[in-house]
Amino acid sequence: MSHSVNDLRRAFIRYFEQQGHRAVPSASLIPQADPTLLFTNAGMNQFKRVFLGEETRAYQRAVTVQKCLRAGGKHNDLENVGYTRRHHTFFEMLGNFSFGDYFKEEAIRFGWEFLTSVVGLSKDRMWITIFREDDEADRLWRKIGVSPSRIVRCGEKDNFWQMADTGPCGPCSELHFDQGPSVPGDDTPNGEGDRVIEIWNLVFMQFNRDSAGTLNPLPKPSIDTGMGLERLTAVAQGRLSNYDSDMFAPLLAAIGRRAGAEYGAMEQADRSMRVIADHLRAITFLMADGVLPSNEGRGYVLRRILRRAARHGRLLGITEPFLHELTATVVDHMGEAYHELRPAAGTVAEATRGEEERFIATLDQGLPILNDMLSKVKTSGQQVLQGTEIFKLYDTYGFPMDLIAEACREQGVTLDETGFEAAIEEQRTRARKTGGFESETARPALSEVAARIGTTSFVGYERLDSEGVVQALLQGDRLIKEAREGDEIEIVLDVTPFYAEGGGQAGDQGVLSGTDGRVEIRETTRPVPTLIVHKGVVTSGSIREGERLQLSVNPRTRQAAARNHTATHLVHAALRDLLGPHVKQYGSLVAPNRLRFDFAHFRPLSSRDIDEIESVVNEQVRQDQPVQTDVMGVQDAVAGGALAFFGDKYGDRVRVVQIDTFSKELCGGTHCRRTGEIGLFRIVSESGVAAGVRRIECLTGSGALDSLKRLEADVRELSDLLKVAPNEVVARTRKLSEQLKDKERELADVKLKMASTSSGDAQAREIKGVQVHAQRTDGLDVNGMRALADQLRDKLRSGVVALGAANDGKVSLLVVVTKDLVGRLKAGELIKEMAIEVGGTGGGRPEMAQAGGKNPEGLGPALEKVFGLVQKALEG
Ligand code: ALA
Repeated sequence: MSHSVNDLRRAFIRYFEQQGHRAVPSASLIPQADPTLLFTNAGMNQFKRVFLGEETRAYQRAVTVQKCLRAGGKHNDLENVGYTRRHHTFFEMLGNFSFGDYFKEEAIRFGWEFLTSVVGLSKDRMWITIFREDDEADRLWRKIGVSPSRIVRCGEKDNFWQMADTGPCGPCSELHFDQGPSVPGDDTPNGEGDRVIEIWNLVFMQFNRDSAGTLNPLPKPSIDTGMGLERLTAVAQGRLSNYDSDMFAPLLAAIGRRAGAEYGAMEQADRSMRVIADHLRAITFLMADGVLPSNEGRGYVLRRILRRAARHGRLLGITEPFLHELTATVVDHMGEAYHELRPAAGTVAEATRGEEERFIATLDQGLPILNDMLSKVKTSGQQVLQGTEIFKLYDTYGFPMDLIAEACREQGVTLDETGFEAAIEEQRTRARKTGGFESETARPALSEVAARIGTTSFVGYERLDSEGVVQALLQGDRLIKEAREGDEIEIVLDVTPFYAEGGGQAGDQGVLSGTDGRVEIRETTRPVPTLIVHKGVVTSGSIREGERLQLSVNPRTRQAAARNHTATHLVHAALRDLLGPHVKQYGSLVAPNRLRFDFAHFRPLSSRDIDEIESVVNEQVRQDQPVQTDVMGVQDAVAGGALAFFGDKYGDRVRVVQIDTFSKELCGGTHCRRTGEIGLFRIVSESGVAAGVRRIECLTGSGALDSLKRLEADVRELSDLLKVAPNEVVARTRKLSEQLKDKERELADVKLKMASTSSGDAQAREIKGVQVHAQRTDGLDVNGMRALADQLRDKLRSGVVALGAANDGKVSLLVVVTKDLVGRLKAGELIKEMAIEVGGTGGGRPEMAQAGGKNPEGLGPALEKVFGLVQKALEG
């Protein structure tokens, strides 16, 4: 077979399909409903609940090519990227899975057959590792023909796999490949060097590790395997580095063209090019899945990756933003296999450029601060940059560590690394306390409930009231049998009409009542995909496990949320119609009282755009279109033109919400029956949330009407104040503001005239033959001061003019030096010294300089100081 990366990807899927596996698309890089995980880091993530027995699928064998990211979290390779030929942040993992179907024997046979027969790797070069006590695996490998001398037993570190601190795990067996003696390193697996490399990991999933560290057996032994496509491609193509295969070659060539360098010519430049190539893929895929650079969580990891790439660009001599152009190369080469890339290309490029520009600004802003710190360190004679200072540069100014280290090295200053580590550790603790991902523990009690009762059935699309039997009562992570008045609890029922928070829509509120108890539900969530959990407080009597309750959703909040959800679909369709299909939803919030919608677009919406969108949506409202929902196969839905969002997880059957021919989306939310229920739609704000992403906030129904009423009341008040009819308010205000401007101009002229004719505040002295004029000009603004200084300069012809004014506690200083004197006197230097008196800073050109300050008391001394300063300068 051909060993191009695209052929290998296809061959893998085809082989396992022939072995009865269902080809399942890659899940998003953002794990769905799994608080234990920052990024998808293995093919098995999307099947975690199937392994745990909390969820069942229509198939028992699956095969995937999964997008993964290992940067941050338990599996983190970020710092190694570039320095080795094997590490990546973003990579594609090939995997086959069995959910309680086949186990070790078939997994071993499939792995061996695919690599040695389908791909055609030489059997003699293969090595096998197995877990220390796994005699069964040993026997099975021998049975298939592997020589005992090529089977190596290893410990937990190498041959026991787990996805995170909690979750499914088990012993594993790996297939390694010997690249031959031309590669330095040991000729056995898991040794020094790169000679024998791991290709494929077969995990025999048998346990669920809980937050106490205990290994609980899984319902059924299962199989999870993972093979990096990057490695496989390199090995199949006989390349010793992942970066030498056809997977990276086009990208490295494009980077080389941009940098004016050639990959392979110089190790140091090669390293930077590898970093950039790897990081570009991570950036493109993360952004296409909806992550944007920010200061926390996933956005922060993305920011670090992007900045690391930008810095390596600098090392290659590129100082302009350039990564954004290269994201197009990633899209070109991978858009075929990953359909989410092409529609997102514009947004990815735009958001990348925005972040690159911010980083350049960071460097421009931070470099003077760093230099200032260094000069202080040197004048103090200590020669050490303190840990807290390093941390400030690193954290507040986003300065890369190695840049700080480099600057210190140049200046002969050492770094207080211990202090820095302490500051970082302190921040980590803070982050953990504020809900960092790693700290979230899975809730074993909930998993137990999920495994015991299966799926909560949701009847809330059809009705707001029903009956339901209490399946479990929880207090924290404790299961209880009975809850009494005042208790804050979570309730799981067999059936519920309560909508659980999801798809951007807030969860329902309402009341559950039993024979002798009542619970007010404040929040409904779905912490486990199969379970709807009602959170609330017992307001009277008591509630018991097993009891049958009357369940009533609050119809007011539900209808309000439904109005906003249907309006969200309408506004989304209107935006796409008006602005174009690049308008991709980045996030939405549907609450009873408002809706918020984030979408990809490069420019702010003009007021005309906003007007038009409001009109289009309101037209749909007036037409009172029926909102139709159908459940169908996901393929049919997408083929029928429904908008689906990559990053959302859809089951095999999906719900399609359609509004006439105007809008069609996959959606699990609750909607109006007809668009007329929305009543009225208004956009109340438009803003930017990140480069290339806009946000609008809207109101519907009585909320929209109330907002108009408030505006109307404001207009009425204005019309009273201005003493004109409401429809004349604008004309009147315009006229008043013009009059005001005229008056301000007149006033400025008068003040200037007064200042230039009053000599009471002025002092003029001649110092060493130079005329020096200092004057206090309170009441003049900076423009007035400039005009006055010009007049005085013209009058003096040769000399120095210093003016100062205090207005509303703020001080302005201005110094002018005539051209003939700038060889001896510099306005910028004079003003720097004067500004100290008023607690401010300033600077400027030799002929003219300005300063601001906060201390009006110092103004007199500041002006007085100019004479001495001139004297000193002329003597010096
Ligand atoms: N989940 C296993 C891994 O990531 C296959 O290595």
